[in-house]
Amino acid sequence: MKKSLSVTVLLDSATLPKDYDTSQEYKDEQSTEFHIIKTLKELGHTVSIIGIFDDVEPIIQNLKENRPDLVFNLTEQFRNIRWLDKNIAGLLELLDIPFTGAGAQGLFLSRDKAACKQILGTRKIGVPKFYILHLGKTVKVSKKAPYPLVVKPLMEDASDGISNSSIVKNMGELKARAEWVHDNWKQPAIAEEYIEGRELYVSIIGNKRLKVLPIRELYFGDTDNNGPVMATSRVKWNKKYRTKWNIKFDFSVLDKPVASRVARVCKKAYRLLYIQDYGRIDLRLTAKGKIYILEANSNPDLHHFDEVAKAAKKAGISYPELITRIINLALARYRTSH
Ligand SMILES: Nc1ncnc2c1ncn2[C@@H]1O[C@H](COP(=O)(O)OP(=O)(O)O)[C@@H](O)[C@H]1O
Ligand SMILES: [Mg+2]
Repeated sequence: MKKSLSVTVLLDSATLPKDYDTSQEYKDEQSTEFHIIKTLKELGHTVSIIGIFDDVEPIIQNLKENRPDLVFNLTEQFRNIRWLDKNIAGLLELLDIPFTGAGAQGLFLSRDKAACKQILGTRKIGVPKFYILHLGKTVKVSKKAPYPLVVKPLMEDASDGISNSSIVKNMGELKARAEWVHDNWKQPAIAEEYIEGRELYVSIIGNKRLKVLPIRELYFGDTDNNGPVMATSRVKWNKKYRTKWNIKFDFSVLDKPVASRVARVCKKAYRLLYIQDYGRIDLRLTAKGKIYILEANSNPDLHHFDEVAKAAKKAGISYPELITRIINLALARYRTSH
């Protein structure tokens, strides 16, 4: 029998409409939040919404008073700072309320593009060589650095701060781009060895047992004509730009042994990085068949048009089923830890 739960959806207030009224349904029909709230209601759950921006006290008070059965955690930042996302999960851990997705540990490890590589690299998982370029320090890397390098903000996502000029070919370009990251993103930069290869997205759901969903791929059509070779911010968010350069997101076609190897490596990374309930690993597969993990995503976007939902659908898991699975995984995880 279907059980009705009281679910509190925690979301970033920055994503709330200005005239937002909590008694009304969340209105931006394009948003992930809208779809999740709508789906939770259709599934028969009682839904309340809390927006978070820069004040934790009302959240603590609300959750203590109302004690929902579960928090659906859609927050990705605090005070516009993305790497504080772990602290919101940390707060929920302190309040001892079950919530969906990764805890503070998992959010930290997948947020920090160097920390995750440090861990994976020591466990025989392929990762690009990298250098951390700290704020306020002279930008310098070894003379033997394997150019070209990709320079990115250390702790962002959604391809923010990543454009075609993130690829640098020498020390001068590296310095300029790292300083650009420091000035614009107020955080360290990471410079990674550029890995040439097919770009794959591997969505996984589960905790004790992991299910790897059908693998997706970003196809770059025009690399011979100096077209983009990375999922830059424009590639990710601008459909016209993708059409212009013949770039598309689709399902990957891989030989079975390769697909199994990719799945195995991604499952290992998922566990090593404390991802919970659902996650997505982004990687490159070289012409020689070597796998390099570029990054791991705890709590990846659950928009019904984004990678996880599309992969789930292909596996026969509808959007409401996906949401239900995530809820059940979160609750089961909480039960076994208490
Ligand atoms: N070391 C690298 N080698 C090749 N491409 C890279 C590398 N790092 C990043 N990219 C490209 O940039 C995209 C975004 O980088 P990523 O680290 O995943 O940032 P985000 O967290 O914003 O998604 C990747 O999907 C890939 O296309
Ligand atoms: Mg990525």
